[in-house]
Amino acid sequence: MASNRGDHFCPSFIFLLLQLLLLQFYSGKGDLQLNYYAESCPNAEEIIKQQVIKLYDKHGNTAVSWVRNLFHDCMVKSCDASLLLETRNGVESEQKSERSFGMRNFKYVKTIKEALENECPMTVSCADIVSLSARDGIVLLGGPRIEMKTGRKDSKEGYLSEVENSIPNHNDTMELVLSRFQSIGIGTEGTVALLGAHSVGRVHCVNLVHRLYPTVDPTLDPDYAEYLKRRCPTPDPDPKKVLYARNDRETPMVLDNMYYKHLLQHKGLLLVDQQLTSDPTTSPLVDKMAADNGYFHDQFARAVLLLSENNQLTADQGEIRKDCRYVNSD
Ligand code: HEM
Ligand SMILES: *[C@@H]1O[C@H](CO)[C@@H](O)[C@H](O)[C@H]1NC(C)=O
Repeated sequence: MASNRGDHFCPSFIFLLLQLLLLQFYSGKGDLQLNYYAESCPNAEEIIKQQVIKLYDKHGNTAVSWVRNLFHDCMVKSCDASLLLETRNGVESEQKSERSFGMRNFKYVKTIKEALENECPMTVSCADIVSLSARDGIVLLGGPRIEMKTGRKDSKEGYLSEVENSIPNHNDTMELVLSRFQSIGIGTEGTVALLGAHSVGRVHCVNLVHRLYPTVDPTLDPDYAEYLKRRCPTPDPDPKKVLYARNDRETPMVLDNMYYKHLLQHKGLLLVDQQLTSDPTTSPLVDKMAADNGYFHDQFARAVLLLSENNQLTADQGEIRKDCRYVNSD
């Protein structure tokens, strides 16, 4: 049969288009878009950026916290600000998990949210604050600029019981770590790059002492082990004394490839950090990142973007919280 393609739209093509439109409408997926708040709150991204800068000027480590928040929020279920919920009315805060140990600066999320509520009430999600504050914090820490979509929704529940199944522990095997990231679509290269976030911030002694006592982990550089023992003088650190070591003593507030250089010198802080050099699938990537900061930044940016888009909530599953600490119905 001769077709008259070109003269008319094929009806089945129109049908397909309609189906795609309906699918998009009903699933509510694909909601993430660049500058999602262009109409509803045109200054949203600028307000977040200004607040992140102001907070950084007063407390530099807020920027570090925003980066860790992105990981802990997005890795558990989705980027839905479930991490920010405090314990109340049936919600058990994810912040109580042992994995969240040492997380700080949650109170300053409120500062950012209040600035947004003043300009556009109930419009900008806490989940987008988590993602964009991380994005802006990364720039302040000398990391790459990352173009991020917005339009995330906030969860109506917390997932405390999921945290330990999602966030690896400081002493987990590289195999397990890689499989956790693989399950959210981040491959080996992305995982190695993401761990470069440990180029900034600190680790409390509880997460280190097993590498120092009763015997020093033989893979640790001896001088570095001495430094760590000075920072963490006993095998049972008093939880009330905030004892910690810096992730990177040379450039502790810069997101650079110093982390990988230190790994090559056997100065990895956590067991997982150091294992990047002993696992044959990750060690060539450590070499590459140690040699080329630009390559590290490119891979880091790509992986942060993947992390920030993990499994976003559909419009009807989520909400826009008024106060990031509580679901709206409370
Ligand atoms: C295998 C994966 C990971 C493990 C096991 C892990 C574990 C840890 C641990 C134990 C600490 C120290 C907490 C403390 O004692 O205060 C820490 C700190 C930190 N982590 Fe990770 N982490 C992982 C991946 C990531 C990723 C992917 C990011 C971000 C992209 C990240 C960002 C941070 C930051 C910024 C800090 C410093 C926080 C501060 O100084 O307040 N981590 N991590
Ligand atoms: C990892 O460290 C935790 C304490 O943070 C400890 O309870 C656990 O036994 C350790 N696991 C391994 C495999 O060493």
